[in-house]
Amino acid sequence: MRNVKKLRVGILASGKGSNLQAILDASLAGEIDVEVAVVISDVEDAHALERARNAGVPALHIHPGRFRTKLEPSAEAAYVHALEKHGVDIVALAGFMRILHDDFLTHFAGRIVNVHPALLPAFPGLDAQGQAFEYGVKWTGATVHFVDAGVDTGPIILQAAVPVEPGDTRDTLAARILEQEHRIYPRALQYIAEGKVRVEGRRTFTASPAEEGAAS
Ligand code: GAR
Repeated sequence: MRNVKKLRVGILASGKGSNLQAILDASLAGEIDVEVAVVISDVEDAHALERARNAGVPALHIHPGRFRTKLEPSAEAAYVHALEKHGVDIVALAGFMRILHDDFLTHFAGRIVNVHPALLPAFPGLDAQGQAFEYGVKWTGATVHFVDAGVDTGPIILQAAVPVEPGDTRDTLAARILEQEHRIYPRALQYIAEGKVRVEGRRTFTASPAEEGAAS
C-alpha cells in the first residue's frame, strides 16, 4: 500500500455481500487505499446492508421501482444523488443484479466497476457459474471490469482462472470462483486508487506511470 489519498467507493449490492465484505476487510485492515463511503441495495433485507452497518458504513435501501431487471428512472436518479451525497469517486457493483442505464452510466462514466463470476467474454449475464458448468468448460474464473452500456462487456481490469475439477458441482465450482473474486476485487480497486489503471479502447494497463517510464 502506498501513501495516497483514499479512494471513496460506493458499493451497490443485491445479495449476501461477500465481495463487499472482502473489500471492507481489506479496507479496514489498511491493506488497500479504499474507503467504503456508502453501500446501497435494491433489496431491503440484503445481508450486504447488515455487513455495511456492522462495519459502521452508511447502508441505504433505495427502492428500485416497478421494473424487474433495471432501475426505474426516478430510482436511478435517487441512486446517483445518494452516491454523490456521500462523495464517491467510483461505484463498485458487488452482486448488484440490475442493469444500469444512460443517466447513471453517463454520470459515472469510466468510474463504475463490476465483478463477474466467469472469464469474460465467456458466460455473461445471470448464473455464469452454472452456465460454465453446464457447458463443460475445463477452466472458468472471475473478472473485474469497467461497466459500459452492455451486459458484462466493459474493459477488463483483472481476471483469475479457476479449473473445473472432476468432482465439482455447480456450487463447489461457484465457491472456488468466489474465493478468487474476493482476491482480485480489492486488488483491482487498489490499482485504481493508485491511479495505475489506464484504459486504451478495450484494453487496460495496470502499470504505474513510473513503472511504465522505467520500462521504456
Ligand atoms: C458474485 O459471485 C458476483 O460475481 C455475482 O454475484 C455474486 C454476488 O455475491 N455477480 C454477478 O453475477 C453479476 N453479473 P456476493 O453478494 O456474496 O458478493
